[in-house]
Amino acid sequence: TGMITLDPGYKNTGSCESAITYLDGEKGILRYRGYNIEELADKADFLEVAYLLIFGELPNKQQLKQFHEDIKQESHVDEEMKKILDAFPKSAHPMGVLSSLTSALIAFNPSSVNVTSEKDMYHAIIRIMAKFPVLVAWTMRKQKGLPLDYGDDSLGYVENLHKMMFKRPSKEYVKNKVVIEALDKLLILHADHEQNCSTSTVRITGSSHAGLFVSLSAGISALWGPLHGGANQAVLEMLEAIAADGGDTQKYMNKAKDKNDPFRLMGFGHRVYKNFDPRAKIIKRAADEVLGDLGIEDPILSIAKGLEKVALEDPYFVDRKLYPNVDFYSGIIYRALGIPTEMFTVMFAMGRLPGWIAQWREMRLRGEPIGRPRQVYIGENQRPFVPLNKR
Ligand code: CMC
Repeated sequence: TGMITLDPGYKNTGSCESAITYLDGEKGILRYRGYNIEELADKADFLEVAYLLIFGELPNKQQLKQFHEDIKQESHVDEEMKKILDAFPKSAHPMGVLSSLTSALIAFNPSSVNVTSEKDMYHAIIRIMAKFPVLVAWTMRKQKGLPLDYGDDSLGYVENLHKMMFKRPSKEYVKNKVVIEALDKLLILHADHEQNCSTSTVRITGSSHAGLFVSLSAGISALWGPLHGGANQAVLEMLEAIAADGGDTQKYMNKAKDKNDPFRLMGFGHRVYKNFDPRAKIIKRAADEVLGDLGIEDPILSIAKGLEKVALEDPYFVDRKLYPNVDFYSGIIYRALGIPTEMFTVMFAMGRLPGWIAQWREMRLRGEPIGRPRQVYIGENQRPFVPLNKR
């Protein structure tokens, strides 16, 4: 194999140097730009965290105001984009719709294709930060058969997202503090996670100097898979299946442990965290708080807790260091907020947006080379061509 080292899944290969997110899988530490995730989830809001991730420092009041103002200036999406959305069947999975719309955006904003200066880069970033929540909201409204709408510039970034998703045609939008804070926290917890599958996809797509929007669209597609962001939808479907099956958690534990059964305990295990996922801890507590505050009793939450308890004591999971990950409890909160199951991964994408942007920007500013892994060839040696009538 010459000089080529084989590392399927890149388990031990660093693809870049990065100053954005620090992760210690043994100790369960996650930091954005040096700030602990626990502190950010508790004290910052999503827009501040987005600024921090993208530009490297927490914004001061003036910087945050300017960032938000610039975003508001770009918060419209070309009306023609609605025709593209219209062409999808209502049953289309929202992740496919979101990825397509994100990619299509470039046709209406051609100046964001070739970004060479930092100024162009800033403009492309502002545009996508502004338009993405509209696409997220449209994606859900389409599925629910609700009229498409734009936001309200007088609202905060997350509040506005929530309004665009949930505003009913004939009803006044009423802000619910518990709901907005929960959403804000979830988005912050998802905002970056260093070189995961979708982020690596964004960086490698962007490394060919394809533009930001299409690199993000590629990232959204990667996120969709059930081993990655799609796990949050899969967790909820699993919990519902267990509930429908009489709540028999042991049966599903046995399935997950059975090597002849492809079933995995969704929301468990992580490539890097081998102790615990700090995001899961925060989300579990938030799920309790949100359901309590909203007065919701969800039998799915007790099934999840039961499953976690059994798994944490089971030698199969203990030996393999499998713990609940970020996706295990997030769906329970989304569900309490009235977000349909198929939209869960779209919410993950909404949260991950600033992280993807920050990683793309870092890659471009550092002038990284095109991503191009090598391989170890294991196919046929040279052989003579056989004409069709001789095969
Ligand atoms: N249920 C049952 N067994 C599992 C699970 C699980 N959820 N996860 C890992 N294992 C077993 C696996 O079968 C293997 O066993 P053995 O050593 O006997 O062959 C061992 O644990 C190591 O697993 P792996 O697949 O080699 O580990 P990986 O680092 O390649 O995969 C993972 C990590 C997250 C893809 C995997 O744990 C998994 O499929 N989990 C379920 C899906 C999920 O929750 N994904 C969300 C990840 S976190 C957020 C995100 O990325 O979006």
